[in-house]
Amino acid sequence: MAEILAIYPGSFDPMTNGHLDLIERGSLLFDQLIVAVLTNLEKDPLFTVAERVEMLREATHSVPNVSVETFSGLLVDYARQKQAKALLRGIRAFTDYEYELQMAMMNRKLASDLETVFLMPALAYTYVSSRLVRQVFQLGGSVSGLVPPLVEERLQQKVFQGKL
Ligand code: PNS
Repeated sequence: MAEILAIYPGSFDPMTNGHLDLIERGSLLFDQLIVAVLTNLEKDPLFTVAERVEMLREATHSVPNVSVETFSGLLVDYARQKQAKALLRGIRAFTDYEYELQMAMMNRKLASDLETVFLMPALAYTYVSSRLVRQVFQLGGSVSGLVPPLVEERLQQKVFQGKL
């Protein structure tokens, strides 16, 4: 049987334990999983693409079938180039569904042979998002347990640098 390669795309600004949880689940389901960081973000990112990739690589280095890359342009073009069979996305709560459905349907219109697979993270991470992590940390709240320690350290560095 041919190996199934899946792509887990996102902004990961920064990665959270919810992302990590999904990566671990995806790595058990697919033969190869590429975590793909979008480089042409519309929003103003906190972390550079290089920083985001570095954090993801550090956090996933022990999972052998997971690699971290970057992509720009259309996700389906990148997926085609990689010969991926599936896109992996996480759904936390009902509110994620509409946005995710729109993207999945648009991607299906563009590439009908590429399936989007949705997985739910562990219950403990259903309320965790990169946006809330940035906000809570910026306002002095604890994000311990919501992001890996290496991300917490990087967030602290951003505060020292006056970027958060
Ligand atoms: O983590 P995010 O920000 O929710 O991830 C969104 C992402 C990167 C998956 C999405 O914006 C994307 O795929 N962008 C690439 C451009 C594209 O292919 N757009 C058309 C499909 S909706």
